[in-house]
Amino acid sequence: MREVGRRRVGEAEIVLQEGDLTLSDADAIVNAANSGLLGGGGVDGAIHRRGGPAILEECRRLRASDWPDGLPAGEVAVTSGGLLSARWVVHAVGPVYGSTRDHAALLASCHRRALAVAREKGLASIAFPAISTGVYRYPLDEAAEVAIGATVDELRRDPGRLREVRFVLFDARAAEAFATALRAIPASGA
Ligand code: APR
Repeated sequence: MREVGRRRVGEAEIVLQEGDLTLSDADAIVNAANSGLLGGGGVDGAIHRRGGPAILEECRRLRASDWPDGLPAGEVAVTSGGLLSARWVVHAVGPVYGSTRDHAALLASCHRRALAVAREKGLASIAFPAISTGVYRYPLDEAAEVAIGATVDELRRDPGRLREVRFVLFDARAAEAFATALRAIPASGA
C-alpha cells in the first residue's frame, strides 16, 4: 500500500492509500456490495475470491435471517473476514448514481453505519474502498466529498476507539479525488 494522504481528525486519523483493499490489515474492511449480498464483480468479487467461501456462507445466512429481501442501499451487514487479514468485513450497499435523488445521503449512510459497527466492536482501524464509484457510476470527486465529509463528521462526533479510518483507492485517479476532498476539510472546530 502506498500512502497518498493523511489528516488528523480529533483522536483519529484519516489515511489514504493506493492499493488492493483485500490486502489491508485493518481490523475491518468495507465491501462495496450489492443488495443481494451474494458476491459480484469489482471489490466485492475480489473480497470473496481472497476471503474464501466462509464469507459467502455467512452472507447466505444473513440473507436467510436478517435480510430476506436483500440489503437496502445505505445499509450494512457484517461477516467475518474469512481468510483475509481483516477480522471483519462490513458489507455496505452503495447507491447507484442517479437512481434516487438522495444518492448522497445513501452513500453517506454507508460510511456512518460502517463506522458505527467499528465503534460497537471497539475497532482501532477500518478501511473503505471508494464505494459506488465503479459499476454504480458515482463520480469520483462527488463520492470522495461525501465519503470524507461523513467520516470527518462521525469522527468528530464519536470516534469510539478508532485511531485510523483508511480509504484504499485502486488507481491514481481515485487517489487524487480523495486527496483533494481530504485537503478541502476545514481545520477542526470550524
Ligand atoms: N481494492 C480497492 N478498490 C477496488 C478493488 C480492490 N481490490 N477493486 C475495485 N476497486 C474499486 C473500483 O476501482 C472502484 O473505485 O472499488 C470502487 C468501487 O467499484 P465497484 O467494486 O464496482 O463497486 P460499486 O461501484 O459500489 O458497485 C457495486 O459492483 O462489483 C459489483 O457486486 C458489486 O453489484 C455490486 C456493484
